[in-house]
Amino acid sequence: MSTIRVHDKEFEPYLSQSAIAKQIKSIAEQLNRDYAEKKPLFVAILNGSFIFAADLFKELSIEAEICFIKLASYKGTKSSGQVITAIGLDTEVFNRHVVIVEDIVDTGKTLSEFLPQLHHQQPASLKIAALLHKPDATVYPISVDYLGFSVPNKFLLGYGLDYNGLGRNIPEIYKLVE
Ligand code: IMP
Ligand code: MG
Repeated sequence: MSTIRVHDKEFEPYLSQSAIAKQIKSIAEQLNRDYAEKKPLFVAILNGSFIFAADLFKELSIEAEICFIKLASYKGTKSSGQVITAIGLDTEVFNRHVVIVEDIVDTGKTLSEFLPQLHHQQPASLKIAALLHKPDATVYPISVDYLGFSVPNKFLLGYGLDYNGLGRNIPEIYKLVE
């Protein structure tokens, strides 16, 4: 595989489709075990997590529900530091076993703002599943309960992740060439 160009930047291959699929299967196995009989509610955070959420959800063999909220904090290749709720939660979480589904935990800002809002509604339990985590970018510490890959503090693209709107449809994950 070779580098690709999106807008003004070059990206190089980083995680293959098969590596991603393997990690998702492993996360799903853990969830199938931990949430059997619990009818969990998955809350996926749009836009970035839509592909991960769909692929993960298809691997679940237990009874489970999913809903979506839309939060945004990124501008270009840097976090803007401001989290905007574009579509809010429309599903009752009281007494539910909730699993948040995120594409990537970067500074932790998005989840640090959203988690207290959810806690306030008293779910029976609250865990986080994220495909990617950048531990070196942490500003607001978040513990990811179900993780696909721990990644370096580099800008990534593909598999739902965008650079200024483009690249979400790329089936692999690419890394910015610096
Ligand atoms: P945080 O609030 O800083 O943790 O950032 C979380 C959100 O920023 C993620 O859900 C992504 O949508 C976006 N994001 C963080 N890192 C990247 C990246 O490397 N590429 C594309 N989007 C990213
Ligand atoms: Mg996101």
